[in-house]
Amino acid sequence: MSNQEAPGGRLSGLHIVLGVTGGIAAYKAAHLVRLLKRADADVVVAMTESACRFITPLTMTTLSGKPVVTSLWDNVRDPDLPTDIEHVGLAGWAHFAILAPATMNTLGKIAGGIADDALTTFFGAFDPTRSLLAPAMNVDMWDNRATQVNIEQLGERGYNLIGPDSGELACGVNAAGRMAEPEAIFKALERMVLNPTGSLAGKRVLVTAGPTRERFDPVRFWSNGSTGTQGLALAAAAHLRGARVTLIAGPGVKPSLPGITRINIESAAEMTETVLARAADTDITFMAAAVADWRPRETTGEKVKKGADTLTVEFEPTTDILAELGQRALGGFRVGFALESSDLESRAAGKLQRKNAHLIIGNLEAEGSGFGADTNEVLVVGREGFRKSFPRMDKFELGGHLVDLTASVMAGAKGGDDG
Ligand code: CTP
Repeated sequence: MSNQEAPGGRLSGLHIVLGVTGGIAAYKAAHLVRLLKRADADVVVAMTESACRFITPLTMTTLSGKPVVTSLWDNVRDPDLPTDIEHVGLAGWAHFAILAPATMNTLGKIAGGIADDALTTFFGAFDPTRSLLAPAMNVDMWDNRATQVNIEQLGERGYNLIGPDSGELACGVNAAGRMAEPEAIFKALERMVLNPTGSLAGKRVLVTAGPTRERFDPVRFWSNGSTGTQGLALAAAAHLRGARVTLIAGPGVKPSLPGITRINIESAAEMTETVLARAADTDITFMAAAVADWRPRETTGEKVKKGADTLTVEFEPTTDILAELGQRALGGFRVGFALESSDLESRAAGKLQRKNAHLIIGNLEAEGSGFGADTNEVLVVGREGFRKSFPRMDKFELGGHLVDLTASVMAGAKGGDDG
């Protein structure tokens, strides 16, 4: 093992599932978890029963800081993870997956579509192009025609492979079969994160996220409770599908995935200026930000002191950015949001028309939906009566569905509730 460690922060905001199967190289997976954690990634380790004989789940829990998934039937709970993490929920949470070491047995199961434990169930539900497999086995098992056929097939299906390296194997011989070193796996993952390929390759996507702050005096401002989670999820999903993504983020929005160009702004005026400067070179715009509709007409340079019986603040409207884009036919395919407390469908349809958008994603401000929640439940409305609803789910998972739906509506394909 080299003592070269990944510098902090390079993978912040990234969700990774690390699958570990039963081979002697399982101990090296512990070092890989450390590298990923040092780069600030969120890591969930999934282990097969045999892996637990080589390295304990306790080691992996301690290193990852998250529960380890070992069984389909455990009740693992973590406030940051989807509630059904033992099942396919984890596939919705993960941005990327690594399988290290990948034994002949587990590679065979993934190639053959067998999902008989938590780890293979996860891979059965997860995108191959975002999976990195690091085989490790005895040289005769590696040379076995069955393994070679499986590897070829996995490659054809889009899986990324690294190694095996040649070197001393556990059985004493010097041959091919050693798992790639954790540092090499880390670097391969980083390349995948920075240069994903997919359905949106070549497309330029602009996403706004979070609240804006409208200053009143040097210490006070007018804002709202948006956290930017849904916007971050849309930006991540578009990036993972190969788009060139620019995220324009308001205050407090959490880290975005590496590879996304991020511009932090504070006020509605700054957001307007930043969006309009890029709108002509954009194929898809997601206006997920909760832009303040009003700002104090006057901002004082001095803190306003108490003492008076009342305080009257006069507000003036901000620019409606989505409507402005609509009016000037800029921003490419324009997707807006409508956060409502009632009459969702008709109000979302009204905003679609008023702002000349192509799609409006409507959500109700309620428990488990809207500002601050980790989940969202939405109704998407489009032109010519298009509608498509999505049940409540994790905002990242929903981001993927919304990006895919946008791409298919843009391409003229149907995909609404009526087929
Ligand atoms: N929006 C915008 N510029 C604004 C206000 C809103 O671009 N100044 C965008 C939001 O990003 C969202 C959509 O318009 O995509 C709808 O925002 P919402 O706050 O639901 O609607 P409003 O137009 O502000 O209408 P109201 O508050 O009256 O419901």
